[in-house]
Amino acid sequence: MRIYRGKDYKDMSRKAANILSAQVILKPACVLGLATGSTPLGVYSQLIEWYRKGDVDFSEVVTINLDEYKGLAPENPQSYRSFMNENFFKHINIRPENTNVPEGLAPEAEECARYDRVIRAAGGVDMQLLGLGHNGHIGFNEPGGSFDKDTHCVSLTESTIEANKRFFEKEEEVPLKAYTMGIRSIMQARRILVIASGADKAAVVKEAFRGPITPQVPASVLQLHNNVTLVGDLDALSMI
Ligand code: F6R
Repeated sequence: MRIYRGKDYKDMSRKAANILSAQVILKPACVLGLATGSTPLGVYSQLIEWYRKGDVDFSEVVTINLDEYKGLAPENPQSYRSFMNENFFKHINIRPENTNVPEGLAPEAEECARYDRVIRAAGGVDMQLLGLGHNGHIGFNEPGGSFDKDTHCVSLTESTIEANKRFFEKEEEVPLKAYTMGIRSIMQARRILVIASGADKAAVVKEAFRGPITPQVPASVLQLHNNVTLVGDLDALSMI
């Protein structure tokens, strides 16, 4: 695993954006696996800036997002589809039909099977961007789940609901379930780019990359992938 240390959040975001834009420049019709959450916001802003300068072109790129809350319509401002449109897609020249996020309102079995077909039809993910949950989750693969799942529906843990409630007006509005790519789908990406920022992520970064490989820390499975890059700021990487 290669580790890049950014001096702060902005530097970490620029380093990660560099890796993603290099992927797009080398393979213009690549498939990017994308994440939501606070950590990637700086990466998306940096990519938007470079797009505006003419340095990176997304016209042939296909994106596949990791997850979506079950029960939220795409146009719900709290949906991950809205998050991606607002924070990234609407600012770049990606074709809307090339962007994929699970459909929160679609029935469970059909939607999970459809999403797996989308990933296969795209030829698999070239580079998967991942943030880390405090409990070691990746996508919405929570501790204790199995490593051999494709897209599936999960019940969110208390700690994830707690962490996500900052995006909702009331805790009761935080959905309790989500559709997520599984660990198997994530591990099939050709390259994985993990980003982490802040002292509150230092312990989970250590557990994930220096601790035992266990479903109790889903991100620890990444130690078994042969092409992982971790980009963190000094605080997040302070324990490794
Ligand atoms: C979101 C996702 C999650 C987040 C994780 C960290 O699509 O996949 O696993 O990456 O919850 O979130 P932040 O970046 O907000 O700390």
